Amino acid sequence: PVSGKHGPLVGAVDQGTSSTRFLVFAAGTGEVLTYHQEEVAQLYPQEGWVEQDPMALLKSVLTCIEKTVENLRTLEIDPADIKAVGITNQRETTVVWDKRTGKPLANAVVWLDARTASTVEEVLKETPGQSQDYLRDLCGLPITTYFSALKLRWLLDNVKEVKQACDEGNLLFGTVDTWLLWNLTGALDGGLHVTDVTNASRTMLMNIRDLKWDPNLCKFFRIPMSVLPEIRSSSEVYGYITQGPLLGVPISGVLGDQQAALVGQMCLQSGQAKNTYGTGCFLLYNTGTQIVLSEHGLLTTVGYKLGKGAPTIYALEGSVAIAGAAVRWLRDNLNLIKNSADIEPLAKTVKDSGGVYFVPAFSGLFAPYWRTDARGTICGLTQGSTGAHLARAALEAVCFQTREILDSMQKDSGIVLNKLQVDGGMTGNNTLLQLQADIAGVPVARPSMTETTALGAAMAAGAAEGIAIWDLTKLTPLTTDDFTPSILPEELPTKTQTPTHRHPVTYNPIPHPNT
Ligand code: G3P
Repeated sequence: PVSGKHGPLVGAVDQGTSSTRFLVFAAGTGEVLTYHQEEVAQLYPQEGWVEQDPMALLKSVLTCIEKTVENLRTLEIDPADIKAVGITNQRETTVVWDKRTGKPLANAVVWLDARTASTVEEVLKETPGQSQDYLRDLCGLPITTYFSALKLRWLLDNVKEVKQACDEGNLLFGTVDTWLLWNLTGALDGGLHVTDVTNASRTMLMNIRDLKWDPNLCKFFRIPMSVLPEIRSSSEVYGYITQGPLLGVPISGVLGDQQAALVGQMCLQSGQAKNTYGTGCFLLYNTGTQIVLSEHGLLTTVGYKLGKGAPTIYALEGSVAIAGAAVRWLRDNLNLIKNSADIEPLAKTVKDSGGVYFVPAFSGLFAPYWRTDARGTICGLTQGSTGAHLARAALEAVCFQTREILDSMQKDSGIVLNKLQVDGGMTGNNTLLQLQADIAGVPVARPSMTETTALGAAMAAGAAEGIAIWDLTKLTPLTTDDFTPSILPEELPTKTQTPTHRHPVTYNPIPHPNT
């Protein structure tokens, strides 16, 4: 291999719900030189439960790193040119392990898992007026099954090994970034127990203003603060890899995957937004240093904090649980298509959905409704309905859900987006993007560089203090393919309804310790 052929390189681990990847970027050009991807299994032990094996997630990361390094050697690129590694990950997914053995004490409870519906009901009973929004002022989030605090509470209440390790002071909790960091930086031999602000903002335990674990939130969910990792910025040297072909390389960037896509799409100005179509679909709108608390069912989250002394940038988020997962369901459960990519040619064989509507609320509805009890439905079927109509209805379902998020975003911020920047696995589907432009009534822009999630993590890692091989102030916008609305305004769906909160909104419920 030839050293320095492409200048300094930055690696990015992208651990998502469906697959793990490791990509290598040339810091000078942002070009992806090579990558390796492994599928990861999801386990469904009971109705509504979604688990993953934390050891399998770790193994997939190690394999991806090894195979990518082999690819580099084949390309005659020196792996020693990798000067930094970033991690981006599926968020909220909850891992618990024993700090003496390093072994997980349960399978990871995945963000989609709805087992905590009863925990949510119990917790709501402890709030005045049973308000889902009771904690919003502290953490920016509604009380739902989605966030880690509920999942950790459930594990402590239902898995005796977890409770016992907690009582004996041996329990460690982490989202997937924390689990990977702990293992990659030495595990039992000094592994770091840390997370970044973006991942911490999805636990429901971090105070959205001071970016610290909030004693009131921890008390509310009965989570001992001793099990929680240290919260750091999204761009700094956390530690060094202690195994495998990248031994000694610093890990210097960590971002939840949706926040990484925000950075990778260069949405670094207030008012810019991106929508990522993966397993679910997540629209993040940069609100700058301003915390905007949603009154229309969106989340307030940390967008990024690129350095210890850097400002904290916030975002409003619309989270849709099921997007690509609906296509996977048509493939795996109905055998309607062989490969996910077959959805587009099938949907194109009909000019519209023929009045068929598909609401893929498999595990409830996320934003803006936050209804754990909702379930999926297909309606409008006639004698003439075909699989093609259903395929088209599935694509439209993704677009209608995004439209609802955009409407809520507009109501909260008063701003109408003049362009929707998109990315993620589904966006190779031109039919989907044209439908999105039509249904949202807004131009859709897809970057020609599609690896924006991994790019965001690599940018954070390469820009860290002490590494500084990626200058974020000299970014050029990504070139895009554009899709413009092609239907008449009167053909657009009517405005979606503002969701009715089941419980009255009550803010400022718990006195903040500093007030
Ligand atoms: O909040 C869940 C999200 O981070 C999952 O992302 O890409 O695995 O669908 P993805």
